[in-house]
Amino acid sequence: MAAPTVSVPEQREVTYLERCGAHSHIRGLGLDDALEPRQTSQGMVGQLQARRAAGIVLEMIKEGKIAGRAILLAGQPGTGKTAIAMGMSRALGQDTPFTNMAASEIYSLEMSKTEALTQAIRKSIGVRIKEETEIIEGEVVEVMVDSPASGSAQKIGKLTLKTTEMETIYDLGTKMIDCIMKEKIQAGDVITIDKATGKVTKLGRSFARARDYDATGAQTRYVQCPEGELQKRKEVVHTVSLHEIDVINSRTQGFLALFSGDTGEIKGEVRDQINAKVAEWREEGKSEIAPGVLFIDEAHMLDIECFSFLNRALEHEMSPVIIMATNRGITRIRGTNYQSPHGIPIDLLDRMIIIKTTPYEEKELKSILKIRCEEEDCEVPADGLSVLTRIAMDTSLRYAIQLITTAGVVARRRKSHEVSIDDIRKVYSLFLDEHRSTQYLNEYQNEFMFSEVSPKVSGGGDADTSTKTTVQPMEVSSIVTPP
Ligand SMILES: Nc1ncnc2c1ncn2[C@@H]1O[C@H](COP(=O)(O)OP(=O)(O)OP(=O)(O)O)[C@@H](O)[C@H]1O
Ligand SMILES: [Mg+2]
Repeated sequence: MAAPTVSVPEQREVTYLERCGAHSHIRGLGLDDALEPRQTSQGMVGQLQARRAAGIVLEMIKEGKIAGRAILLAGQPGTGKTAIAMGMSRALGQDTPFTNMAASEIYSLEMSKTEALTQAIRKSIGVRIKEETEIIEGEVVEVMVDSPASGSAQKIGKLTLKTTEMETIYDLGTKMIDCIMKEKIQAGDVITIDKATGKVTKLGRSFARARDYDATGAQTRYVQCPEGELQKRKEVVHTVSLHEIDVINSRTQGFLALFSGDTGEIKGEVRDQINAKVAEWREEGKSEIAPGVLFIDEAHMLDIECFSFLNRALEHEMSPVIIMATNRGITRIRGTNYQSPHGIPIDLLDRMIIIKTTPYEEKELKSILKIRCEEEDCEVPADGLSVLTRIAMDTSLRYAIQLITTAGVVARRRKSHEVSIDDIRKVYSLFLDEHRSTQYLNEYQNEFMFSEVSPKVSGGGDADTSTKTTVQPMEVSSIVTPP
């Protein structure tokens, strides 16, 4: 009889960082089972069309159906493009690789642009490697360890394990005894022992012994006594990215480079060999390819060389799904003098499906701000929230989000746990938004350095940004009137 295959749930220790980033409130796309977006769910608010579209893309990625597609998230600043990409990443889970990069990163690495992109692409393709291991799984009936009084002689021990059908006594070596002591294994525990490594894992306590002790903690997990034979085969699946395999096999770097992140350039031959090997594993049924996602934020920062490289890379059979985001309109393609929608060449745009994001309405802004207040642990009463929403409408959502944190600090300074309207007023006057800052510059420009150089003041960013305000420099002749 062939040994049955059982799957043992892997336990993962989770540690949460007590830190809160711009998108830390986002836990998924907030869709229901029919892929319809809920108005507010998993930290996501509104932007229904874009979330619905993202949900469909996500579903196709999960099914492993698509590879080598490109998706563009396009919309005004602060309309949640990056947030939607983060939501997709959270919803994909651990087993599908998701690489997140900003387009400008490729200019700051010590390698060529195409190498940086190739590495990013290969980081986004997972290889699921299947492995079978032999394990012993059963409920502990008895553990006996003899420690000889002299202390110098070897410890000896016996372990009795049972399933619902059989019971066996195993002799324990010193190493196994140490493992069992360390895991505090006692009668009534259900454990697995990996035969190859001797690793002991406690799955929980047996239901049958649930009443033996009254003083068990709330976190004690109860499991059924295993059925069938004690020795079982277990299939384990590891997901590694092609990039990780590259680094491990590249002789100049060695696998330690994975930890330092200093991988340098990887030779083409190494990659060819690995592609061939992976294809071989695939045919033998030992592994499968899991195309993941490469997210390139601020995609207008890529230049023409990168765009044509991506054109080609998308057609490769082992290509991930590439998602880009941009807030630019019709603008110059970096590295050329040509203009194009979103600063992306038409031939690449033609290969993309475009998801657009639209500005929020008052109600949605209020919900997002409310979620952010909770995320940042700031208690803001209803009237304060209305003021913040008003500010978000008049200035920008980002500015209003910044005010939450700063107002929170001000409130704490006066030993209050609630942010008052006065706190918000105070930080509103302390920190300028873009509009007021421009106004200030207009009034006092003569006192700043270099103000006379350009007649135009842009809203920040690089030269492509469409200018909101045009400032006419004050005519010198109007000040110095001739006598
Ligand atoms: N629909 C939403 N639900 C919840 N939070 C949102 C939503 N949209 C935006 N946010 C939050 O608002 C802030 C700004 O959004 P985000 O950074 O995603 O904008 P963006 O479209 O990427 O802008 P840019 O073009 O400037 O990069 C972030 O903190 C984001 O988490
Ligand atoms: Mg963004």
